Amino acid sequence: MGGLAVLYNRQLPMINSEQSMSIVDACESRTNVTPEFPMGWFSVSRSHELHVGEVKPVQAFDRELVLYRTRSGVPVLQDAYCPHLGAHLGHGGRVVGESVRCPFHGWRFGAGGKCEEIPYCDEIPERARLRTWHTEEKNGEVYVWYHPENTGPQWELPDLPELGDPNWTVPRYAEFLVPAHVQDIAENSCDPVHFQYVHRQPDVPPSEVTVEENGRILHLRSDASNAPIPSQLHAAVFNPGFALVRNSYGPGAEMIVYNSAQPVNRHETRMRWTLTVRREIEDLAGDDVMQGIINGLGDDYPIWANKVHKHRPVFCKEDKTLVLFRKWVRQFYLTEKDKREIA
Ligand code: FES
Ligand SMILES: [Fe+2]
Repeated sequence: MGGLAVLYNRQLPMINSEQSMSIVDACESRTNVTPEFPMGWFSVSRSHELHVGEVKPVQAFDRELVLYRTRSGVPVLQDAYCPHLGAHLGHGGRVVGESVRCPFHGWRFGAGGKCEEIPYCDEIPERARLRTWHTEEKNGEVYVWYHPENTGPQWELPDLPELGDPNWTVPRYAEFLVPAHVQDIAENSCDPVHFQYVHRQPDVPPSEVTVEENGRILHLRSDASNAPIPSQLHAAVFNPGFALVRNSYGPGAEMIVYNSAQPVNRHETRMRWTLTVRREIEDLAGDDVMQGIINGLGDDYPIWANKVHKHRPVFCKEDKTLVLFRKWVRQFYLTEKDKREIA
């Protein structure tokens, strides 16, 4: 993510959730290892794009999943392949009350994952169950908690009081399929030097990266007062790919970009952006700021599409914010020791 502080004239076609940008596959070097998926909260759908009774396939964490909304309105995310003969529940599965029915032989699975009915048999095998992922719905999105060992959430989803506040505009949405690992996208916001070289800011904006006392929430503050549209940027990153970016153009002239990620696989990430601005500046900044951010992403795009993930980058003395980001991000992965203890 980048270019938040600057508006550009370059055009990049905007897409919505029905469309996706054509992807240049990320190049993978044989000598490089792309990280696994970090633990944290990730989005799998906008709330308004999952209707009661709707069933859809979802690709996340290199897995096939099924997402549906029960008749009582609860979103449910489960492994997609039926334990019987492997049909994909996201393609032709049907919601029945609080459960989903497989399109192949009609086995029905509850929102907790257990098979509740086999229409032609009165005995249900013990192992007839689907893995159910922990989901929560908040701020207009459906989130899944991801942890490699399937443990419950270790922290709560942040509040976003500006959504629904009459002083702020109705949110604008954008969605992109980005050809990069979620960690590399997150790293971009802690990389002030690229603002000059990729986003053509006049110089490297003075930036500071700090981590909250709890060690988890990372803050980036960037002073873009030299940019064509001067601003002060503050990004709070809750976990890789999940951030709240505030940009202030002056007293009362503020905008927020709420940024959530769906790691599709190790080379593709679906990014969902929600933008709201103070009503006072909507006519000046609402659509233009959104377009500026989209154009900023277009600057990053060719870099992401062709780069490799450097597991051990060579940093120079001035790469302080990147070094801090790499230290911070480690906590979202299991260490080799964790893995040995679990095994
Ligand atoms: S494959 Fe699902 S019921 Fe047979
Ligand atoms: Fe960028």
